[in-house]
Amino acid sequence: MDQKTMKENAGKAAVDALVRSGMKLGLGTGSTAITAVRYIGSLMEQGALKDIKAIATSFQTGLECEKWHIPVYSLNSPEVNGALDLTIDGADQIDYAHFCVKGGGGALFLEKLAAYASKSYAIALDETKVVDMLGVTFPVAVEIAPEARTFVCAELAKLGAECVLREAVRKAGPVVTDNGNFLVDITFKNAPGRIYPALLEEQINHIPGVIENGFFTKKGPHVFVARADGAVDVWD
Ligand code: 5RP
Repeated sequence: MDQKTMKENAGKAAVDALVRSGMKLGLGTGSTAITAVRYIGSLMEQGALKDIKAIATSFQTGLECEKWHIPVYSLNSPEVNGALDLTIDGADQIDYAHFCVKGGGGALFLEKLAAYASKSYAIALDETKVVDMLGVTFPVAVEIAPEARTFVCAELAKLGAECVLREAVRKAGPVVTDNGNFLVDITFKNAPGRIYPALLEEQINHIPGVIENGFFTKKGPHVFVARADGAVDVWD
């Protein structure tokens, strides 16, 4: 089974297990999260899901919600009032503690806001993304204020990180996020010994100029891992 189909299976399994009519939903970003958005849209079209209020974590997700007529609100709107029932998202990698790395699609700030404003959190992904150690084989995105770039990279180096400014494709210069910031991608491949994602999530966010980082360790997600044989494992 190809990875695209596995992503669809994971997204659908998360929706079937957790999404109910009347929910305020955080909708994640990326090719896996979008499969969940489309599935929610199709269930709404059939009348099987009603009265959904969504928060989009990126322009990508907002545009997909438009296509499916999923009503999108601001997290600040009175209808949502800063609190979500559930957020469903994908991830770049996950370890066996259910800690994730996110931000491959550059949407980590709103993704984390939605996740941490949610009662319940779900991560859908395929089995190729399950790893023993985060921060080594896939970079962790850090969203930064452009003016803070040099300072932040020097501080990240003190934590053992190698830091690369994310360059845009088909636009000259760096990626500019949906919030008008830069992204640096960091890895810890030369750090001595294990790294501690829960501690790093806090340490990185203490650096002035950092908006948010792609370690997600504080929400204990329900995890839906799609396997190549067609099954979906659920880690609760
Ligand atoms: C976007 C993300 C995505 O969830 C992550 O990059 C996984 O993407 P995909 O489902 O396309 O593999 O964090 O910022």
